[in-house]
Amino acid sequence: MLEQLKELRLKALNELSRVGELEELESWRIHNLGKRSKLTQVLRSLASLPLEERKKTGALANEVKLALESGLVEKEKSLKETYLASFLGQKGLDITLPGRPIPVGRLHPITQALEEICNVFTRMGFQVTEGPDVEWDYYNFEALNIPPDHPARDMFATLWIDSTETTEKARLLRTHTSPMQIRIMEKERPPIRVIVPGRAYRYEATDVTHESMFYQVEGLAIDTNITLADLKGTLFEFCHGIFGKERKIRFRCDYFPFVEPGVEVAIECLNCHGAGCRLCSHSGWLEILGAGMVHPDVLRRVNIDPEIYSGFAFGMGVERIPMLRYGIDDIRLFYGNELRFLKQF
Ligand code: PHE
Repeated sequence: MLEQLKELRLKALNELSRVGELEELESWRIHNLGKRSKLTQVLRSLASLPLEERKKTGALANEVKLALESGLVEKEKSLKETYLASFLGQKGLDITLPGRPIPVGRLHPITQALEEICNVFTRMGFQVTEGPDVEWDYYNFEALNIPPDHPARDMFATLWIDSTETTEKARLLRTHTSPMQIRIMEKERPPIRVIVPGRAYRYEATDVTHESMFYQVEGLAIDTNITLADLKGTLFEFCHGIFGKERKIRFRCDYFPFVEPGVEVAIECLNCHGAGCRLCSHSGWLEILGAGMVHPDVLRRVNIDPEIYSGFAFGMGVERIPMLRYGIDDIRLFYGNELRFLKQF
């Protein structure tokens, strides 16, 4: 029996070395390790052998089985490798070629600026919300103390959707994000701290500093005991966050019908540092936003009692910020879809 096993091993391994195909290997397996193989028969018959013989034969039979099994595994591996190599060779696939580059997109410079602005304000506890681009006359003008005959309407060259007479039901493309002040105060009760990024539209000839569509970020804070000092502190924090702590900030009176007092914030010109240059029209300052304390009449209109509550609002242009920072001298570049321009940011 022992001799027979040894011979079986020799023969099987010999055959295995000559196997050249995976199918051939399978029949080799069935023949040598399958249910009806000699080896299996020997293993099955062990039980009927006398003890001494069973021990010796059993040990050897197991040894042979292991040898055949590991031979099988190795052979299978090497056959698969050869197959893969020949397959790759045949198809002319050059795995040393560099891969195709995956084009990486990027955020639009205005999107980046909006994110940055929102980050500064959310750190101060403001929430972020958005509103409709198509607005009612009521929200864009009336509710903001700008009735139809008000001269401030001239400040906002309006793109009307309903070209008939101006009523509070006439639709328009919002000329600023301030209508969201009203929409928010209609729905929410103080304390309110919110900013609103979004598009605004004006019927203007485009040039290097004017686009008929541009972005603004509106801010609104309503609570008890809010003062002009809070507005100033908030806006200075914002300017420092965006333009750096070193930059000088100018805070002056301005007029907007929906705030009292109204203010305007300018920063020291990034180009000439206050000396005066073309960018700042030789003033040394760049205006970046309008703001003020929410007018009591506006609060009354949305049923917030101005005897109890006060608040501030501000609105800033967004394009200005990357223009100043990167020295971009034409606002129209942002919306021209010129990839060579956009790729730089
Ligand atoms: N909406 C004003 C504008 O577009 C800016 C502003 C907002 C001023 C809020 C005061 C308060 O010019």
